[in-house]
Amino acid sequence: MAVGEAGSVSGKMYSLTEVKKHNTEEDCWIIVHGKVYNVTEFLDEHPGGFDIILTNTGKDATEDFEEIGHSNAAKDLLSKYIVGDFEGGDVSHLNKPSISAVRAKQTTSSGNPALKLLQVLLPLLVILAAIFVPKYLL
Ligand code: HEM
Repeated sequence: MAVGEAGSVSGKMYSLTEVKKHNTEEDCWIIVHGKVYNVTEFLDEHPGGFDIILTNTGKDATEDFEEIGHSNAAKDLLSKYIVGDFEGGDVSHLNKPSISAVRAKQTTSSGNPALKLLQVLLPLLVILAAIFVPKYLL
C-alpha cells in the first residue's frame, strides 16, 4: 500500500501548530502524505538515525521521506504509527514549484529546448544570409 493511501484513520485532524508541538526525542510527530505519525517509539530503531527524523518535525516530511527512496517495508511500517490526518491535507506538492511557476518557466527559453535551439540557429542564419545574399542574389 502506498503511504498516500495509508488506511483509514480515526478521523482525528491535526493542525500544523499542533503537530509542531511534538518535536522532541521524547515526543516526535511527523507529517507524510497528509497523515500525522507519532514516530517517537521508532526513533531509536530508525536505520537512518533519529536526528534526521527530528529535523523533519514541524513541517511536511513527505519530500524528505520519499527522496531517501525508502523501501515498501519502510512505507508499510509508517502505518503502524499513524495518529490522524493533517488538517492541511497532502501538502508535499507545496514544496515543489507550483503549476503556474512551472508553466511560466516553460514559456521562457530556459525551459524550452526548441527555443534554445532557435536562439543558436537564428544568429547563424543571419550571418549566413549576410554572406550569401549579397554574393548570389544581388
Ligand atoms: C521523514 C523523515 C525521514 C527521513 C529523512 C529518513 C531518512 C532515512 C535514511 C537516510 C535512511 C538510510 C538509508 C540508507 O541506509 O541508505 C533511512 C532508512 C530507513 N528508514 Fe527512514 N527516514 C525518515 C522517516 C522514516 C520513517 C517515519 C520510517 C518508518 C516509520 C522510516 C523507516 C526507515 C527504514 C525501515 C529504513 C531502512 C531502509 C529501508 O527499508 O528503506 N524512515 N531513512
